[in-house]
Amino acid sequence: MEKEFVRCQIEEGIAVVTIDNQPALNALNQPTLAQLDQIFEALAGDLEVKSVIITGGGEKSFVAGADISEFNQVKGDSTAAFMARGQRIFDKIEAFDRPVIAAINGFALGGGNELAMCCDIRIAAENAIFGQPEVSLGIIPGYGGTQRLPRLIGAGKAKEIIFADERINAQEALRIGLVQKVVPKGQAVEEAKKLLKKINNKGPVAIKMAKKAINEGLAMSLRGGLDLEAQCQSVCFATEDKDEGARAFIEKRPANFKGK
Ligand code: COA
Repeated sequence: MEKEFVRCQIEEGIAVVTIDNQPALNALNQPTLAQLDQIFEALAGDLEVKSVIITGGGEKSFVAGADISEFNQVKGDSTAAFMARGQRIFDKIEAFDRPVIAAINGFALGGGNELAMCCDIRIAAENAIFGQPEVSLGIIPGYGGTQRLPRLIGAGKAKEIIFADERINAQEALRIGLVQKVVPKGQAVEEAKKLLKKINNKGPVAIKMAKKAINEGLAMSLRGGLDLEAQCQSVCFATEDKDEGARAFIEKRPANFKGK
């Protein structure tokens, strides 16, 4: 039987996906990527799941990057397919139609930082270290780092991190907007659960549409994004949840959203 590199535990509508590849600090080898892909495929079909947390096994690392020991097998024509596969899986996580939080419990290097950047929100433990070390290996970030990092923190800072292989700690990541919160070591998953319990009480269609408008709008002109926002709002206005939300406000009680 194939070794389990990724496990998923679902509790109270929150799926905790743990990447656990020891002793390689959760490096993303091909079986790990395949299992991550399969788990997200399964979660997409599980409507009991309202949101997802991605974290790393052990205390030291979120994900220490793509598995460098596999690089020698990647040559010539196989390079494009190798990269496209990782990009496709990360795109799938980014486009997952419910919130995904990265609970970054240690090293988030290379593919680890790229995976965190596919998530909607990043919560870092104070021992987390971020970086894109690829140029030190003679390559460039290939699972979205050259595109998502400058979009998140600006081109100048992204180039400093990528060109010089600068490693940054959790407080610096917070300062530059790479993460949204820093918590004590060992607390990232709990903090992510706390935030998701709040989010999971909101209108599910509204959350889905807000995510779509933000993610897809970022790749558009302002006009295109505003048109998309109006389309997404029309979807929300057509739901029973919209009537329930307004009624609950007037009746001064919590809304009981049904997701339709
Ligand atoms: N791919 C494959 N193996 C990796 C790995 C990766 N990305 N990152 C760490 N490992 C392995 C190490 O080879 C080591 O294995 P070994 O015990 O068989 O020698 C084990 O994980 C522990 O790593 P080690 O380097 O001993 O731990 P450390 O605490 O001294 O350093 C890091 C931690 C993360 C700073 C260091 O491992 C590192 O620089 N990793 C590579 C990061 C990287 O370049 N990622 C981008 C890849 S494109």
